[in-house]
Amino acid sequence: MGFSRKIALVLVLCMAILHFSHEDEQPGNQPEEYSINAHSGIRRVLSAPRSTDPSPQDIVDAHNKVRKEIPGLEPMVWNTTVAKFAKEYANERKKDCALEHSNTPLYGENIATGAGAMTILDAINMWVSEKADYNYETDSCAPGKVCGHYTQIIGKTSIRLGCALSHCLKNDGIFITCNYAQPF
Ligand SMILES: *[C@@H]1O[C@H](CO)[C@@H](O)[C@H](O)[C@H]1NC(C)=O
Repeated sequence: MGFSRKIALVLVLCMAILHFSHEDEQPGNQPEEYSINAHSGIRRVLSAPRSTDPSPQDIVDAHNKVRKEIPGLEPMVWNTTVAKFAKEYANERKKDCALEHSNTPLYGENIATGAGAMTILDAINMWVSEKADYNYETDSCAPGKVCGHYTQIIGKTSIRLGCALSHCLKNDGIFITCNYAQPF
């Protein structure tokens, strides 16, 4: 066997080892995934409404309390069509709990992710806390800060509301989304 053939053989062996060690990782995901699926029955019980889960009215009230601070803003109302969209998207994000927007052209959208016992009201409070960085007179946000969730909540045209929470399949995660529709 020539020297270059030996080198080639070693390379092939290395690649095979890399290939198989990589393959080892892949099936490794399956039992994990399986155990997550096996958990989902338990999770479903755990994610049944708790007494601390806010009602649609609580969620609307939390928004309208903030809107009341600004003269001339109509109050929001819960809309089941919008809420259904929010629920469907929250369910879609169960798989990864990624902080990603649905990118729907239909509605405005605020999203949040968290863990454990986070509720929709917690998310709303978090969004509303951006108020500290927002200047209403100049309609501007402090440099380097985010105000878009707060301005969504006080939007003139965000009138019909729907929010949803889902328990993600990984790491005890929570995904929360609120959608906002314009008046008719
Ligand atoms: C909710 O919104 C949908 C469309 O966005 C509309 O068709 C429906 O009439 C609304 N429901 C109520 C109760 O206003």
